Amino acid sequence: MAPQEDNAPTAPAGVDTDKPSAARIYDWYLGGTQNWAVDREFGRKAVQLWPGMKAMARQNRAFMNRVVEAALDAGIRQFIDLGSGVPTVGNVHEIIRRRVPDDEDATVVYVDYEPVAAAHSTLILERDEATDWAGIVQRDLRDPDGIFDDDTTCALIDFEEPVCVMLVAVMHFVGPDDSPGKVVETYRSHVAPGSWLAISHASTDDAPENDETAGVRKMIATYQNTSNPMWLRDRAEFTPWFGDWAMLEPGVSRLPDWRPTNEPQPDELEASSFGWGGVAEKPQP
Ligand SMILES: C[S@@+](CC[C@H](N)C(=O)[O-])C[C@H]1O[C@@H](n2cnc3c(N)ncnc32)[C@H](O)[C@@H]1O
Repeated sequence: MAPQEDNAPTAPAGVDTDKPSAARIYDWYLGGTQNWAVDREFGRKAVQLWPGMKAMARQNRAFMNRVVEAALDAGIRQFIDLGSGVPTVGNVHEIIRRRVPDDEDATVVYVDYEPVAAAHSTLILERDEATDWAGIVQRDLRDPDGIFDDDTTCALIDFEEPVCVMLVAVMHFVGPDDSPGKVVETYRSHVAPGSWLAISHASTDDAPENDETAGVRKMIATYQNTSNPMWLRDRAEFTPWFGDWAMLEPGVSRLPDWRPTNEPQPDELEASSFGWGGVAEKPQP
């Protein structure tokens, strides 16, 4: 669906509409309306450099949705979605509402530092009358303690019980100077045994050296001029972020290969060399 380009809301306080932001560009990739001209212009250039970009965004969303379904099947009832983005179809609270019986509790905390993502999340949660069991924390995920101590997190998450911690399509915005491994380790160490950690990440390490791969690298490089510079990492760099947790089947895989529920569309397979994801479970002590 083409974005309705004139429908972007009045910018909430703190929104920089002079510089493109990852949250709003991603919204544009997914056909949303919470983006400004500067985001759309950036998105169009990115898609020119790598036409698979929109498919990659949809794959990350679909991966996230399958992780939530699998975690619910495994009995997990608490979710922290770090870098949750501008809400679009298939948000965690929507899956919970569809899947969890009314007489059972389940909670979700969305975390994003982007003002548009936070403002729109608030609107959606109010519209869906979900504010008793779902909340948005507008904070930087590189400060895990700030997120653990936030009032919304404290009200919704019991860290004595398992939590599904999701880092979907976000860690490639955390650069080497911010000790990404240490950040993820802090989340791992704070949650109870039986918790899950889901990570997806942009990568070119398994891709053939061809024009498409060169286009992906150029596209990633253009993010240096946005509010969210981006880093590609090999699987060997981000797989250790799961620590000693037990990798769940099928391990770190191309996104459409992580517990697929239906045949992937051709464009998904086309783009799939560049996005990898996996889920691990915290062992009992
Ligand atoms: C590509 S979007 C992914 C959205 C969502 N996880 C998904 O897969 O559909 C990345 C999101 O991470 C957010 N983000 C990037 N760095 C962040 C940080 N350090 N703290 C909080 N949010 C961050 C961006 O604002 C953006 O909304």
